[in-house]
Amino acid sequence: MTFLIALYALVVAARPAPTVAQAGGGQVTIPPDTAYGCIACHADKRTAFVMGVHADRGIRCHDCHGGDPAATVLPTAHRGRFVGKPDKVAIVSLCGSCHSDPDRMRQYGLPSGQVAELRTSRHGQLLLNRRDFHAPTCTDCHDAHMILRPDDARASTYPTNIPATCARCHQDATLMARYGLPTDQFERFRRSAHGVALFDDQNFAAPSCVGCHGTHSALPPTVTEIANVCGRCHVLVSQAFAAGPHAAAARDGRIAGCVGCHGNHDTERVPAERIAATCGRCHAAGTRAHALGTEIEQDVVQATADLHAAEEAIGRLTRAGRETGDAQFRYRTALTAYLQIAEVQHNLDVERLEELTRRVRSISRDLQGIADVAEEHRWEHQLFLVPVWFFALATLALALLALRRLERGSRHS
Ligand code: HEC
Ligand code: HEC
Ligand code: HEC
Ligand code: HEC
Ligand code: HEC
Ligand code: HEC
Ligand code: HEC
Ligand code: HEC
Ligand code: HEC
Repeated sequence: MTFLIALYALVVAARPAPTVAQAGGGQVTIPPDTAYGCIACHADKRTAFVMGVHADRGIRCHDCHGGDPAATVLPTAHRGRFVGKPDKVAIVSLCGSCHSDPDRMRQYGLPSGQVAELRTSRHGQLLLNRRDFHAPTCTDCHDAHMILRPDDARASTYPTNIPATCARCHQDATLMARYGLPTDQFERFRRSAHGVALFDDQNFAAPSCVGCHGTHSALPPTVTEIANVCGRCHVLVSQAFAAGPHAAAARDGRIAGCVGCHGNHDTERVPAERIAATCGRCHAAGTRAHALGTEIEQDVVQATADLHAAEEAIGRLTRAGRETGDAQFRYRTALTAYLQIAEVQHNLDVERLEELTRRVRSISRDLQGIADVAEEHRWEHQLFLVPVWFFALATLALALLALRRLERGSRHS
């Protein structure tokens, strides 16, 4: 290990001194690292630091830690405004000394609200108001030295790495027991529609933890906010929802918005055959609302079966060797109507729902009819081929027989 570090130091020392653009406009040359005392004794921290974003901008150890970088011996190196290892609250001010300054951040296109946002979050309240060091500070999520951009796949803040970053604490049963919080968020999220989209499909339009909670302002959305949080991405569903009777109930906090039917961390589509049962969690059997749920379920189940039948009809047409262009076009019309059903039923307007269901059914019936006819023709075609094959084979057999005779005749003579 020591050998490796020494080798690394040699390689680094042999490199030309990098040039860095300064905010002032001029170019300055960083002195070669051997003249920079801190790294002579803290080579491991340098290794991590040069991989991060700050080194690229000419930020150096003493910008955060103070001390005298020209000195190579203790205690002189640690003199001056030496900060040493800042505690969790001091870290917020340290990072904020640059990141909360809009004049400094504007040139990089970076927002400057992280500290202000952290202050509003549950994390910030605990850390800054109560000095509870179990709450995260900037470096718990970003590291202290190897600070990478969130779009760098190695970063702890890269979309697919965020859940693990949060889970380091939120899956820690002893830590969370102090606050009476469950520790199953990551497990449930991993299996949810969002977890599958994020991890398996690498679909970064799906939320990681921060997509719903906010990044630096992490708080659970209050019951009345949930529909708006989900609606940021599910725009059409949310518009339909807003037109239905549950929207008013959600505004008053009587139903936890979308989560009332979908769950927060184990978010899933409600399967067609469980729709009425879902309504039944809040509306007793025999009520108008429950009856409506049963109607919706029947429509969705029927439309799903019709869509599958239409798909199967296209398959049959293809096998019968038919041109399927027109059928494909009609199938897509049915699919569009089918997809609209899932959105529209959020306003619980069964009339519109039934209209869409009928459209799927009528197209599906047509396509099945066309496929039936094509299959009949295909059989007729195949039946017609039987005599043709019979004659062809018979002719071949006769020809072989004749050939055999000829050969025997020539051998005789
Ligand atoms: C001659 C070697 C040497 C030099 C040069 C040196 N340090 Fe240190 N540094 C040490 C030692 C030894 C420790 C104590 C390590 C420990 O306690 O684990 C230490 C500890 C630290 C700590 C942790 C303090 C704490 O409270 O835990 C920081 C931060 C630090 N040094 C930063 C710097 C910076 C910045 C520079 C350059 C300005 C620098 N050091 C230069 C040897 C050095
Ligand atoms: C952007 C600010 C920043 C810069 C630049 C920076 N550090 Fe640090 N450093 C920190 C913070 C914050 C901590 C406290 C980390 C923690 O609590 O996890 C820390 C901790 C340390 C420690 C104590 C680590 C420990 O585990 O006890 C040492 C030693 C150290 N830094 C050395 C360096 C050296 C050497 C450099 C230059 C290569 C450097 N730092 C550059 C912010 C910085
Ligand atoms: C001396 C000023 C300074 C300090 C102190 C500082 N930063 Fe930075 N930081 C910058 C600058 C400048 C950039 C822009 C780098 C770039 O975009 O190339 C940056 C970039 C970042 C980025 C990448 C942002 C992005 O999307 O590109 C993160 C994350 C970050 N800093 C976190 C921290 C944390 C955490 C701390 C405290 C440990 C900290 N910074 C302390 C100046 C600072
Ligand atoms: C609970 C974890 C967590 C804490 C605490 C945290 N960050 Fe972040 N930070 C993230 C994540 C995750 C991202 C990625 C952004 C995203 O995906 O929305 C990020 C992004 C950033 C960025 C890039 C620009 C932006 O705002 O998106 C900067 C700069 C930054 N953080 C600085 C800080 C500073 C400074 C602190 C302390 C005041 C801090 N962070 C505290 C998790 C955290
Ligand atoms: C260093 C540990 C740590 C990390 C990392 C961390 N948290 Fe927390 N989190 C806590 C603690 C401690 C609480 C306080 C619980 C309380 O007081 O209710 C908390 C509270 C929360 C709460 C409020 C829960 C409630 O009902 O009060 C949310 C939401 C939250 N965290 C989300 C996140 C997200 C999202 C991330 C990742 C970006 C994250 N946390 C990273 C430690 C952490
Ligand atoms: C699809 C949106 C969404 C995603 C993604 C999400 N959450 Fe939540 N989370 C919520 C909602 C909504 C609540 C509040 C539930 C309520 O009040 O009924 C919540 C509550 C919480 C709480 C409070 C305790 C609890 O379990 O109720 C914590 C802690 C938390 N989330 C952490 C996380 C972490 C960590 C992740 C990533 C693994 C995550 N969340 C991903 C929406 C989400
Ligand atoms: C950051 C954007 C975003 C947020 C916020 C969000 N979602 Fe999603 N959601 C998605 C994406 C992307 C998918 C995956 C779509 C796919 O794979 O076709 C998805 C999938 C779903 C699915 C499964 C759809 C299906 O057809 O299987 C449901 C249900 C869902 N989200 C509900 C919610 C609820 C409820 C909330 C709020 C608690 C929420 N979403 C918050 C983006 C988001
Ligand atoms: C999480 C609980 C919950 C679930 C699940 C739920 N609802 Fe509701 N629903 C409510 C609340 C609360 C109201 C408002 C009650 C009021 O205004 O008196 C409401 C109101 C209604 C209303 C208008 C008032 C009425 O009773 O006629 C209809 C219709 C309705 N829901 C249908 C449904 C259907 C259909 C489903 C299933 C697809 C469903 N609900 C699932 C909680 C729920
Ligand atoms: C009363 C129960 C209920 C509530 C409340 C509810 N949903 Fe749904 N949601 C369903 C049902 C049932 C389905 C499945 C419909 C189907 O398969 O046709 C569904 C399907 C979905 C889908 C998949 C639809 C698609 O287009 O692929 C998404 C996304 C979704 N819901 C998001 C939300 C959002 C966002 C909210 C809040 C604005 C919400 N849901 C509120 C019952 C509900």
